[in-house]
Amino acid sequence: MPWQPSDRLLAAKPEIPTGNAVMRLEDADDISQIRDLLEVSFPGFGEADLVDNLRRDGDLVLSLVAEDDGIVIGHTAFSRLWVEGEGAPFPAVALAPLAVYPEYQQHGVATRLVREAHACLAARGETLSVVVGEPAYYGRFGYSNKRAARFISEYQSPYLMALSFGAAPWEGRLAYAPAFAALSANDPIQDHD
Ligand SMILES: CC(C)(COP(=O)(O)OP(=O)(O)OC[C@H]1O[C@@H](n2cnc3c(N)ncnc32)[C@H](O)[C@@H]1OP(=O)(O)O)[C@@H](O)C(=O)NCCC(=O)NCCS
Repeated sequence: MPWQPSDRLLAAKPEIPTGNAVMRLEDADDISQIRDLLEVSFPGFGEADLVDNLRRDGDLVLSLVAEDDGIVIGHTAFSRLWVEGEGAPFPAVALAPLAVYPEYQQHGVATRLVREAHACLAARGETLSVVVGEPAYYGRFGYSNKRAARFISEYQSPYLMALSFGAAPWEGRLAYAPAFAALSANDPIQDHD
């Protein structure tokens, strides 16, 4: 059954004001608004270019927007990431980027985006998500460095974290989508999400 946004997961966090924002899959009309958001949210054009390039290359597994009265106020993307080891490469996803306009922050919009994205990914059969980011933030969604500690990656550090929704490897080399190469060349590791 195709995934549909739902408030099911939000029921566990009733204290978070959710406003009128709707979480939904991106469509073609959102692309320029997503770019605007990412240009405002991160220094330089790295993250905006990353998402455009992932989309161009067919590597976007999931792109969700938070829309409020027709405006894209938040966005997150998950792209294909392969875990290479013995046997066939294992398909995982990489969470990057995640952004909400400053005036809409601190109202749980990013939390809703990430939780809805995880529900969608799990419903589609994805079992492993990896992020490079602030442990204090991503830890609230269940990401941990412990889950990612045995992966071989250019991003290996305390900021590399993983979350599994099902059976998935604990070891192997992480192969990010080619679009990440340009981001790596320009940005420090902490800016990768
Ligand atoms: C990070 C971001 C997406 C959060 O959006 P948001 O809609 O305000 O997030 P929520 O309302 O769901 O959650 C807010 C919480 O995140 C925390 N938070 C925000 N940025 C954080 C960071 N870099 N490190 C740790 N915690 C952070 C806030 O302190 C707040 O904590 P609280 O719930 O204990 O009060 C937003 O601040 C943003 O777009 N930042 C610029 C882009 C960016 O840095 N993205 C990568 C994030 S690591």
